[in-house]
This record gives sequence, C-alpha cells and structure tokens, in this order.
Amino acid sequence: MISPQIKVLLFIAVVGGPISIGKASPISLRPSIAQGVDGGQVFLQCNTTTSAKPVLKLTQNGKVMPRSRIYLSRVQGGWFIRVGPLRAGTYTLTATSGGSASSSIIFYKAKNTTVGFPKIVRNPRYRFKKSGESVTFHCSATGSPKPQIFWTKNKVPLVADKRVTMANDGRLMFTNLQKSDQGYYECVAQNLHGMVFSRRARLYIRVVQRPPRFTVKPRDQVVDPDSDVTLNCAADGFPKPSIVWERDGSRISGVLNGVLLIKKIRRSANYSCTADSYAGKVKTYAYVTVRRKLLLFVLEYCD
Ligand SMILES: *[C@@H]1O[C@H](CO)[C@@H](O)[C@H](O)[C@H]1NC(C)=O
Ligand SMILES: *[C@@H]1O[C@H](CO)[C@@H](O)[C@H](O)[C@H]1NC(C)=O
Ligand SMILES: *[C@@H]1O[C@H](CO)[C@@H](O)[C@H](O)[C@H]1NC(C)=O
Repeated sequence: MISPQIKVLLFIAVVGGPISIGKASPISLRPSIAQGVDGGQVFLQCNTTTSAKPVLKLTQNGKVMPRSRIYLSRVQGGWFIRVGPLRAGTYTLTATSGGSASSSIIFYKAKNTTVGFPKIVRNPRYRFKKSGESVTFHCSATGSPKPQIFWTKNKVPLVADKRVTMANDGRLMFTNLQKSDQGYYECVAQNLHGMVFSRRARLYIRVVQRPPRFTVKPRDQVVDPDSDVTLNCAADGFPKPSIVWERDGSRISGVLNGVLLIKKIRRSANYSCTADSYAGKVKTYAYVTVRRKLLLFVLEYCD
C-alpha cells in the first residue's frame, strides 16, 4: 500500500515537472514554439488565472532583448503578445504571473523556411473612406496546409461584429463606417509551420453628415374599428437617424424599426413620424380615420 504522499511524488516523477496537482497551472503560453521569418513578428497567447499583467522577458542566448520588441494587450480570456520585428535566430519568451511559462521563438531566414510555411501574397492597402460607406480589405496567403487568416487593428486582434466581417478567403469587410474604425490593419496568416504578418494598411475615415431623409413615409388610412393597423416609416442619413412616433402630439414609446403596429384601433388620430440625428430632423404625418360602425349599419339598412 502506497501512502498518498508517495503517490504524489511518483506522479511528479512520471510527469517530470514542478506542477501543482488537481489545479490548473496559473499561467499558460501558446504555442510552445512560435515560428516566424527574419524581420517579422509572431504572436503568442498567454492565459493567466489572475487579472494581473504577466511580466514578460525575451532573451537570446541568455541576453535580454529590448522591451520594445514585445507588445502585450488584453484580449478576451487572456493576453495577446506580439514579438518582433526580430532578426533570424532563436529566442526565449518567459511570462510570469503567479507561475512561469516559456516558449521558444524561432525566426527563420526567408530562404530557410519549411516547405509550406505561410507567405503573404497580397497585402491590404491604404484606404480613404467617408463615414457611412463600406470598405473591403484584401489579404491572401499561400502555404500548406492552407494558412488561416485573422486580422488585427492597431496591433490587437480584431473582433467581428454587425458591421465588421472577416471572411475565410482573407477579406475584411466593413459596412456603415464610423470614425472609430480608423486605424492600422494587418492580417496574420498561420499554419502548423509558423506565422507571418502582412504589411500594415491604414484606414482613414472622413466624417460627413447627411441630414435624415425619408425612404418610407406612413400613409393616411381609413380603417374599420377594432382592426390592426400598421404604419411604416424609415429614413436614411448619417449618422443613422432615430425614429420617433407621436399620436396627436404625444410620444409613443417602445416602437422598433420604424414600424408602428396599432392593435384594435378605436379612434381616429393624427400620427407623426420624426427622423432625428445631430445632422438634422424631418417630420411627416399620417392621419388614420376609423370608420363609424353606426354609419355602416345605416347604409346597409337603407340598401
Ligand atoms: C486561453 O483562453 C482562451 C479562451 O478562454 C482559449 O481559447 C485558449 O485556447 C487559451 N489559451 C491557452 C494558451 O491556454
Ligand atoms: C536553417 O534552419 C535550420 C533549422 O530548421 C537550422 O539548423 C539552420 O542553421 C538554418 N540555416 C540558416 C542558414 O539559417
Ligand atoms: C396633423 O397634424 C399636423 C401638425 O399639427 C397638421 O399640419 C396636419 O394638417 C394634421 N393632419 C390632419 C389630417 O389633420
């Protein structure tokens, strides 16, 4: 019968490392070998159990490299570390926060990369756009296996959202550009052999205002009492105007997408739709007349 203490010792001996048992390591660094090309950059992902910034140290043959060769940023679930640009050679990156983790970084001479190493064959280019417009950046890379591509903005991985799409073929697309999209973009191509960063492309945005203009106006209607009525209103402009509805001058709240749905209408009223942004304001009216039931009855009777 082996005592628990001995079991623990045996386990450490087998795994061969100073690890804490039953608990995840407080820090991890991936990949364990990051490979790039001479004069280029690589990235690593560091995860820590605390929110404290990891302390980073980059060395080559025991010699500490300048801090300016490391760029650390917070990303969802951890830290994104860029290393470079650096000359061909082998380096060691050590990250410390609670515990320590290290990775090797190899920058190859351009002519000495593995067959299939990713290579950027089309770099994204400088674009000048107006706010509200769309833009597409292109990036393509060769390599085997086919490299995966992601994008960075101002050195940090870019996150897709409603306006920003990153396609599998290396395109980066923006719609309805905002001033905040302005910045420096680059693509990163990686496969199991290593990674390569494209040239930086600047996106410049000129903010232009376009006052609101109706694209759909609600129309006057004559309806039966207790029927459901829909009034449509839409406007474009930049910035995108917001739509506000009123009934006989009082605001109706909780209307989505400029579609006003009136259930079981009872009385006639004058409805207005206002499209409003800091570039201007426009207003339009629609009168909804509710037929009188009694009148219908009388007409039918006389028939
Ligand atoms: C870090 O965390 C992210 C998200 O939680 C995960 O996708 C990634 O694989 C982790 N990386 C490491 C090095 O553990
Ligand atoms: C090429 O890379 C190999 C390792 O893959 C290395 O041993 C060798 O020194 C490199 N040669 C040059 C000229 O960099
Ligand atoms: C609705 O109200 C506006 C503003 O008061 C007015 O100009 C318009 O004539 C009204 N429409 C009807 C049909 O009464």
